Amino acid sequence: MTGATRTTKRVFSGIQPSGGLHLGNYIGAIRNWVEEQDRYENIFCVVDQHAITVDYDPAQLRSHTRQTVGLYLACGLDPERCTIFVQSHVPEHTELAWLLNCVTPMGWLERMTQFKEKSAGGGERVSTGLFTYPVLMAADILLYQADGVPVGEDQKQHVELARDIAARFNRLFGDTFTVPEPWIRPVGARVMGFDDPSRKMSKSADGQYHSVALLDEPDQIRRTIMRAVTDSERDIVFNPERPGLFNLLTVFQALSGQSKQEIETHFAGQGYGHLKRELADLVIAALEPIQARYRDITADPARIDQLLARSVARLRPIVDDTMARVRVAMGHR
Ligand code: TYM
Repeated sequence: MTGATRTTKRVFSGIQPSGGLHLGNYIGAIRNWVEEQDRYENIFCVVDQHAITVDYDPAQLRSHTRQTVGLYLACGLDPERCTIFVQSHVPEHTELAWLLNCVTPMGWLERMTQFKEKSAGGGERVSTGLFTYPVLMAADILLYQADGVPVGEDQKQHVELARDIAARFNRLFGDTFTVPEPWIRPVGARVMGFDDPSRKMSKSADGQYHSVALLDEPDQIRRTIMRAVTDSERDIVFNPERPGLFNLLTVFQALSGQSKQEIETHFAGQGYGHLKRELADLVIAALEPIQARYRDITADPARIDQLLARSVARLRPIVDDTMARVRVAMGHR
C-alpha cells in the first residue's frame, strides 16, 4: 500500500549508532518522534549499516546499536505504538539500495554537502559507501512507503534526494513509491557544539566539552554548559549573529517549551553565568528520567532482543509488498 491509500500517515526515521546520542539528536529528532507518536504509524530504525561508511570498531558498533535501541525506549518511544528495529536485521535495505543506485545520477550524489564535508582530505579512507550513503537512506525511507521523515536540519538535503529518487523511479518504472517529505521543526533543528557554536553538535566531533550526551553524568553536563563558548556582550536576547548565546537560548527554548519573549523577559538584567546555571539545571532535569529508564530497560538484555525480533516480523508484510512491486517493475520477475 502506498501513501495515497492510507488514512494514517506513516513516519520513518533513524539514527546512526556511531557514538553516544547527544542533545542535538534528542532535540532535533527523538523528542519530536515521541511527542507525535499518537498521530502517526511510526517506524524508527537504528541505522547500523550507515555507521560503517567511515572507520569504526565492530565491538563498539554492536554495543552502540543496543544502546541506541535502549535510548529510543528510554526517551519515551512506546513499542506498542512504534516499530523499533535495526537496519541490518532487514536485508532488503541493501537490496533496494543497489536497485536505487542504478536509477540515481552520480551528479545528484556529488552535490550532497555532507559527503563533501566528510570526504574532504580523506584520500583512500573515503569509501564508496560514504558516497552512496544517501541512496541507502533513500532505500530506508522508500522501502516502508513513508509519508513523513522527521529529522534535524542537516538531513533535509538527504530526504529531498529520497524524494527525487522516488519521483524518478516512479517516472521510469511506474508508480511504485510514496514520495516522502522532510519534517523539520522550527526550533532546535540545528543544535550547535557548546565548545564551538559555528559547528553542528555531532557524535564524531572531538572535544570533551563539545556536546552533552544523553547518558552524561550531571557533573559533566554542568561543566560542559558552564564552559560553553559565548561572546563578550551582556544582554540575553535571541540573536543569530551571536551564535553561542543563540544556541544556549535555543536549547533552553526547546526543553522549556517557553516562547522567545518569555525567555528574554525571564533573563532580563541577568548575566551569562545565570543563564548557564539555569540551562544546566533544565538539561539535567530533562535527562534524569531518561537515564533512570535507560538503566531499568537495559537491566534485562533479553527484553531488547525480543522487541527487535518482534519488530522484524511486524515489518515483513510492508517490506515484502514493496519489494515484490519493485522486482516486477524493474524486470527481475
Ligand atoms: P544522525 O545519526 O547523524 O542524526 C540522527 C538525527 O538527529 C538529527 N541531528 C540533529 N538535530 C539537531 N541538531 C544537531 N546538532 C543534530 N545532529 C543530528 C539528525 O538530523 C537526524 O534526524 N543519515 C541519518 C540517519 C538515517 C536516516 C535514515 C534518517 C539513515 N537513514 C532514514 C531518516 C530516515 C543520520 O546520519 O542521522
